[in-house]
Amino acid sequence: ATTRYEAETAPAVCDGTIDTNHTGYSGSGFCNANNAVGASSRFTINAATAGNATLAIRYAHGGTDTRSANILVNGATVQSASTFTATGAWTTWSTKTVTVPVNAGSNTVQLSASTAAGLPNIDYVEVTDSGEPTGEPT
Ligand code: GCU
Ligand code: CA
Repeated sequence: ATTRYEAETAPAVCDGTIDTNHTGYSGSGFCNANNAVGASSRFTINAATAGNATLAIRYAHGGTDTRSANILVNGATVQSASTFTATGAWTTWSTKTVTVPVNAGSNTVQLSASTAAGLPNIDYVEVTDSGEPTGEPT
């Protein structure tokens, strides 16, 4: 199943501001994290079963540098300095896909800036797990 988690919707937490000044985002805004090492966009996501889940991270980066983030699941770093290339404009949104290990049930996912440039602007994370809907034939 695939579920979308908006960066601006609790229990998600943004170390910065929820902004709406760059169009094209989903939901009611996006996370503009502080331009600092460790500034984070955090999500609480659900997985039907333990195993690998695919995270599709929608972001915009109108600068010219490449930004990078450590990706933590349940507090453990599962990817170091994962890169987010420039999208050309703050109103141009792209999706970066990563595969991460998850537990069955609730998990925290944290995107934590690994340089002083901070994160790109984060719109949402879509999580695809390997679980089948309850009661469906397999
Ligand atoms: C600009 C832009 C912000 C962005 C910031 C950044 O200020 O308007 O949306 O977050 O640059 O460089 O991180
Ligand atoms: Ca920012």
